[in-house]
Amino acid sequence: MHEPRKLYVKSFGCQMNVYDSHRMADTLAREGFVETQDPAEADLVILNTCHIREKAAEKVYSELGRLRKQKQEAGSDTMIAVAGCVAQAEGAEIMRRAPVVDLVVGPQSYHRLPELLADARAGKRVVDTDFPVEDKFDHLPAPTRAATRSRGPAAFVTVQEGCDKFCTFCVVPYTRGAELSRPVGKILDEAARLVDQGVREITLIGQNVNAFHGEGPDGTVWSLALLMERMAGIEGLARLRYTTSHPRDMDDDLIAAHRDLPQLMPYLHLPVQSGSDRILAAMNRKHGREDYLVLIEKMRAARPDMALSSDFIVGFPGETETDFADTLDLARRVGFASAYSFKYSPRPGTPAADHEAQVPEAAKAERLAELQHLLEASKAAFDASCRGKTFEILLEKPGRQPGQLIGRSPYLQSVVVNDPPAHVGELLTVTITDVGPNSLAGVPVGEAGTSPSSVLSRPLAAMEA
Ligand code: 5AD
Ligand code: SF4
Repeated sequence: MHEPRKLYVKSFGCQMNVYDSHRMADTLAREGFVETQDPAEADLVILNTCHIREKAAEKVYSELGRLRKQKQEAGSDTMIAVAGCVAQAEGAEIMRRAPVVDLVVGPQSYHRLPELLADARAGKRVVDTDFPVEDKFDHLPAPTRAATRSRGPAAFVTVQEGCDKFCTFCVVPYTRGAELSRPVGKILDEAARLVDQGVREITLIGQNVNAFHGEGPDGTVWSLALLMERMAGIEGLARLRYTTSHPRDMDDDLIAAHRDLPQLMPYLHLPVQSGSDRILAAMNRKHGREDYLVLIEKMRAARPDMALSSDFIVGFPGETETDFADTLDLARRVGFASAYSFKYSPRPGTPAADHEAQVPEAAKAERLAELQHLLEASKAAFDASCRGKTFEILLEKPGRQPGQLIGRSPYLQSVVVNDPPAHVGELLTVTITDVGPNSLAGVPVGEAGTSPSSVLSRPLAAMEA
């Protein structure tokens, strides 16, 4: 009998890549591949890459350098594939820069992996970055029960890909192409199957997820709010999320869904990028700072326990100290529970990259440090406000210490619980007893306040996943 061939997939970047990596693994499972966590023993390594900032894209080449060394030293014939957005953006150039690569495959061609691999094995250097007419989703197999189990009780489902917004800093409209929504029926089938396999939380994902406009079972176009309502009807599905949203597409129905659907978690990632109207206009964001602040008010009116997260870019071309002060002010006003912030990175082919008023690196670094300081304090304040609160967590995985499990709060915080009366995949109501920099600690409701928990007697750092 044949030894099964081993597959190592490494995902960079966003959740879309995590989802795609799973789909690639599911496709290759049919070809006899089993997944390994060790690239050294893999017959096939896939790097699922991100092109959003220069640093992200460069990581691929350092990873390829490591793999080349490893291959040489071991004298192995491991095949190496580059997938994802760097593959889409750079195509054959990747093979010129890194001859160790056997196969380059763009995000729209993952269903063709088996044939592409066969070509590569036959000695061809394969590059497929087409946007084919056939829908890859119709050809990508569903995960087996075992695969779903191994991935845990919180899963992603892609509902939409691509972006038509063309923010002037962003490569996504070029790497992922035009906005395309999947039909509602297919999304619901995929979700129901995952729930049947033990999934309790689903995050609907898309580069511009709230621009979703998929064909409904009745032949009309459905919004994300309508899809969400139907998702909430799936028995056994305890929690719903969606990401990433654009402020322009946050319509009243979607805001009302946060009020009406208990499954929809009170947490939203809503990138704002900048707090300056001038910069927002130059970024082609199609909304102003006041629009954003009004939106947040509406969300909080619909769901008073709503917490927010965001993305920021500092040092966009032409950004002055006054513009940056507006960004700090907006961040202060909203009080984000969590946020990501980046220095502007010029991306080839995007309009802002050619702007003559590029901000010097030193100013970008200074602004980023200042903004991150503010955002970290804001996150710490939000986490601290959770102490003594009671909420449900979804238990996702074992902790570091025996008997510990780690769950996720409604706000995506990691919550460590000692000896919980429940298993991975179950919901547990806990009271938050301790707050650390990277995780919270909780005790099951009823146990709080009785005696000092053993969680508290350990340094928090030891509990973080
Ligand atoms: N430079 C810096 N950050 C960027 N992002 C997207 N493009 C760039 C760029 N060229 C950030 C945005 C986006 C997040 C995913 O990455 O904040 O929301
Ligand atoms: Fe990029 Fe803007 Fe589209 Fe988001 S909305 S993917 S930042 S172009």
